[in-house]
Amino acid sequence: MRIRDPRIVAKLVEINVELKHGTALAGLTSLGIGGTTDLLRIKRHESLPDLLTLLDANHVPHKFLGGGSNLLVGDGELPWVVLQLVRPEPDVVLEGNLAHVDAAADLGRMITFCAKNDLGGMEGLIGVPGTVGGALRMNAGAYGMQIGSYVREVKLYRAASRKIEVLHGDQISFEYRHTSFAPDDMMLAVILELPSKSYKDILQGIRICNEKRRSSQPLGQKSAGCIFKNPPGVSAGRMIDELGLKGLSVGDARVSDRHANFFVNAGHASARDMLMLIADVRERVQKSFGVNLENEVVVWNA
Ligand code: EPU
Repeated sequence: MRIRDPRIVAKLVEINVELKHGTALAGLTSLGIGGTTDLLRIKRHESLPDLLTLLDANHVPHKFLGGGSNLLVGDGELPWVVLQLVRPEPDVVLEGNLAHVDAAADLGRMITFCAKNDLGGMEGLIGVPGTVGGALRMNAGAYGMQIGSYVREVKLYRAASRKIEVLHGDQISFEYRHTSFAPDDMMLAVILELPSKSYKDILQGIRICNEKRRSSQPLGQKSAGCIFKNPPGVSAGRMIDELGLKGLSVGDARVSDRHANFFVNAGHASARDMLMLIADVRERVQKSFGVNLENEVVVWNA
């Protein structure tokens, strides 16, 4: 979708939002898949209420992009524009055991920065790609921990009230890869309360998690992490593996040989290829195990 109306373009300049025409989302997602649309880069959180009012008044549909690491975007010209926060400098400020973090901060860098300042707890998330905002919205987790456990406060734009609001941690429910945020809420910043731990001990934990991840996940390849959520008590990856589906392909979309719940883009996969592969695997698991696998990856299909 393209914004051509000069009145909208002028207003975007006025509220400090950068318009990047015809951006290929394939270049902004870890899967390397996705069509083209206009990208709106938000330099100040405070612009959001005006920006959303402007888009709504002109019937411009939109979606919020984080780090693009858990996302499968449709092919071709996309029927909505994409909004993304520009990462401020600094993006993490420490105050005792509290870390004030911008949603656009890189998750791994944030964990490393906190570790160097003797704040730990999030070692398990070290290899998870993406932004802190994306991790927060999905309640990213790995190796027995989840980001939600450390949330003290969240600043967000609430589409329902059209305002920037602050929620206390106990007003938000964090479950397995799910939170109580509305789909059109936009994460802006978070305050995490982290346990004190020596850098040496945190590094030890990070090394162990990195080792586990390296040995079981296809890290060098284009993927969106796990495609399906684990149903209660079972591993989706193990079920897919047991069916002998590693290597199954549709075009360049392929079930990883290393971890069967990772589907990789082995070349120039389209969203159509990836969606067909997902549907095929889901059907086979349903037939053999009677289990309906739910997507873990977020799908933006036109
Ligand atoms: N397994 C297989 N074959 C495979 C993959 C796994 O037999 O192809 C077996 C493993 O040997 C193990 C069991 O299945 O006995 C579980 O595997 P793993 O430890 O890799 O964990 P997982 O349940 O597949 C979950 C998360 C990962 C997270 C890891 C580590 C989900 C959907 N996946 O994977 O998160 O990194 O645990 O904590 O919850 C993600 O969210 O994108 C993600 C990758």
